[in-house]
Amino acid sequence: MTLAPTTILYEGKAKQVYATADADWVVLRFKDDATAFNGVKKASIGDKGAINCRISAHLLTLVAEAGVPTAFAKVLNGRDQLFRRVEIVPVEVVVRNVVAGGFAKKLGRAEGERLARPIVEHFYKSDALNDPQINEDAAIVMGWASAWELACMRERALQVNDVLKAFWDARGIDLIDFKLEFGRAGGAILLADEITPDGSRLWERGTGRHLDKDVFRRDLGDLGDTYRELYQRVFGTEYRAE
Ligand SMILES: Nc1ncnc2c1ncn2[C@@H]1O[C@H](COP(=O)(O)OP(=O)(O)OP(=O)(O)O)[C@@H](O)[C@H]1O
Ligand SMILES: [Mg+2]
Repeated sequence: MTLAPTTILYEGKAKQVYATADADWVVLRFKDDATAFNGVKKASIGDKGAINCRISAHLLTLVAEAGVPTAFAKVLNGRDQLFRRVEIVPVEVVVRNVVAGGFAKKLGRAEGERLARPIVEHFYKSDALNDPQINEDAAIVMGWASAWELACMRERALQVNDVLKAFWDARGIDLIDFKLEFGRAGGAILLADEITPDGSRLWERGTGRHLDKDVFRRDLGDLGDTYRELYQRVFGTEYRAE
């Protein structure tokens, strides 16, 4: 396959989506932009796009090998990935292993409490509404996803959790929580978008040091340095720009 990006279809906060000559395929281009609080806080972080591109490709390949159908096809260059074009299900799926972030805040609990089993949460994908949390009934009744799709996404998200937890565990990192997006193509539900430290909480085991976008959200240090360190832990080699 030699599909190159043509016209831009959508520009998000972290990526651009391009059409290709084949309507069934899109190119996702990872940007250096970092945003938080639904775009209120913004910065450009050198190497972020390229590092996220490589980490996401690696993790999507791992979960695909574990049997989770994905829309990811391959890396095209340092920032671009080829994907099956899907109709994104407007329900984001979050898996939590440890209390943190919005969950801690909403329930008045301290961050760091280990959950007895993973919790799956759903959020309606709407920038205008700030991605409000919903439940499966709301998703079905409002027509955002069918019961079958929700069951499928839940099962796959928990499977992804098992794979990612083991992966990060082997690198001395606790997987606290993460967000996934799924899409429809040819009657199937495929894991789409990205798996990156932008949409995951990753804490160094023992110290609890944040190795994810919370470093940016909470002004805990240099996000570029954090992502370069994470790259080193994922691949065992220092990050070098192409
Ligand atoms: N395979 C795919 N086919 C079509 N669209 C996709 C695919 N994978 C991801 N997308 C969509 O591409 C966009 C990627 O952009 P980005 O991650 O920057 O969005 P964002 O700023 O997080 O905004 P939002 O996710 O709220 O639209 C997302 O809207 C995502 O749902
Ligand atoms: Mg996104």
